[in-house]
Formats: sequence, structure tokens, C-alpha cells
Amino acid sequence: MAFSSPAEKKQYVNTMFARIAHRYDLMNRIMTGGQDIRWRKLLVEQAQLPPGGRLLDIATGTGDIAFAALKQHPELGYVVGADFTLPMMGVGQQRQQKVSFSSRMSWSGADTLHLPFPHNTFDAVASGFLMRNVTHLFQALAEQTRVCKAGGRVLVLDVPRPADNLFGRLFRVYFHYVVPFLGGLISGQRDAYCYLPASAEVFLRPEELKAEMEKAGLHEVRYTMLMFNTVALHVGVK
Ligand SMILES: C[S@@+](CC[C@H](N)C(=O)[O-])C[C@H]1O[C@@H](n2cnc3c(N)ncnc32)[C@H](O)[C@@H]1O
Repeated sequence: MAFSSPAEKKQYVNTMFARIAHRYDLMNRIMTGGQDIRWRKLLVEQAQLPPGGRLLDIATGTGDIAFAALKQHPELGYVVGADFTLPMMGVGQQRQQKVSFSSRMSWSGADTLHLPFPHNTFDAVASGFLMRNVTHLFQALAEQTRVCKAGGRVLVLDVPRPADNLFGRLFRVYFHYVVPFLGGLISGQRDAYCYLPASAEVFLRPEELKAEMEKAGLHEVRYTMLMFNTVALHVGVK
């Protein structure tokens, strides 16, 4: 899937997530066999949030990382879930009404390339499945680093470009054929689930993303490969 300009990609991503918002959570669970819950739990563990700490879940979507953090850290100060697709957060807000920690979470309409928060605000800044979608990866990392406190952590969970080995080829069959079929069936938006593998094909390999995070000013950057090396969780310290 090729875009003629960054503005065209941004517009596509924004309207595509608005179209699939109502089926986003269900499709995630089916596509990953429920493993995505475990990855977000691991991300929250690696965020090493202090008691009373502050988390920014950027590109929160329906709030999965934010909710996982509030569940795992009842002593957390607050969590901000921010995203530029309001219907995704709308689904999250409906979920929030059913849980008891709602008062410690707020929602913010924001573009990750221009975060509306002061420098050094959060103890951790996390994103799940955002980075393939941004039009300027370095700027996104630089902004996330800017709003993170010194000593805090920036975490990136995403699907890197598949490896060129046998497993990578098998994964491509699943990703390029099975996922769009299921996505079309469940959300009625097959193109959105064609975009997903297409965006991974042009994304960075884990070592390349690590290097970009270091360039953005993070240190001690390391990553964990999940789901047979098809998903990567990167973490760096400011
Ligand atoms: C695949 S969803 C991930 C949602 C959630 N983080 C999760 O783990 O399920 C990607 C989200 O990134 C958001 N997004 C993409 N580009 C963005 C940007 N430039 N600024 C803010 N949000 C963005 C989309 O609106 C969408 O909700």
C-alpha cells in the first residue's frame, strides 16, 4: 500500500482506525490468539512505574495499555491515554465506565508528532502498535522522549518487518492472507487488515528501531522478541 505523501498516509490511518474502532479489540484477540494481552502486561512490567507515577499511553486506541497499567499498579498516580482517532478512544471510554479505577485515567486528543504536554512530565511513555503508522518515526520518538522524565522509560511495542527466513515466510502467509480474510469477516473493513501487513513490510527491523531510539536520546535500549519473533517490545531509558 503506497501513499503519495505523509499527509495522505496520516489521513488514511486516522479514518481507517475510525472505521474499525467498534471491532478493534475483538479482532486483536482473535488475530493473536489472546496473546496481545500478555504483551501489554509485559510492557507495563518493563515500564517500572514508581508508586504514584505517571504514564502516557500514546496512541492508546481503546485504552488497552492504560487499563493494563492501572490494573497492575493500583498505586499509580495517573494515566493519560492519548490518540488522534476519537472513535477509538470513544470505545475505550465506554469500557472505562465499567471499571473502578476510571478516575485516575484521562483521555486526550493528540498527535504523537506534537504532544501537548510539557517536557519531563511522565515516568514512562508507552506506545502499542503505533510506530508503523507514523509519518515521521524520529519525530515521534523525540517527542515521546521529550515528555518523559530523566530516568524514565520509553517503550515501543510493534510488529517489525518480518525476517527473511522460513518462519518469516510462513508468518507472511498468515499475515497477508489469513489476517485480511478474518479482518474483512469481523470488521467488514478488509483493506484495514491489508494495510496492517503492508505497514510491517516497510517498517524497521528490531536492531534498526533500537538505533533510532538511541538517536532520539534514549540509552540502555534493549528489546524482547515475542510471538515467534513476530512482535518486538523495545525499551529505553531517558
Ligand atoms: C493499532 S492501534 C493501537 C492501539 C493500542 N495502543 C493497542 O495497543 O491496541 C494504533 C493507534 O495509533 C493511533 N495513531 C496513529 N497515528 C497516530 C498519531 N500520529 N498520533 C496519535 N495517534 C496515532 C491510531 O489512531 C490508533 O488508535
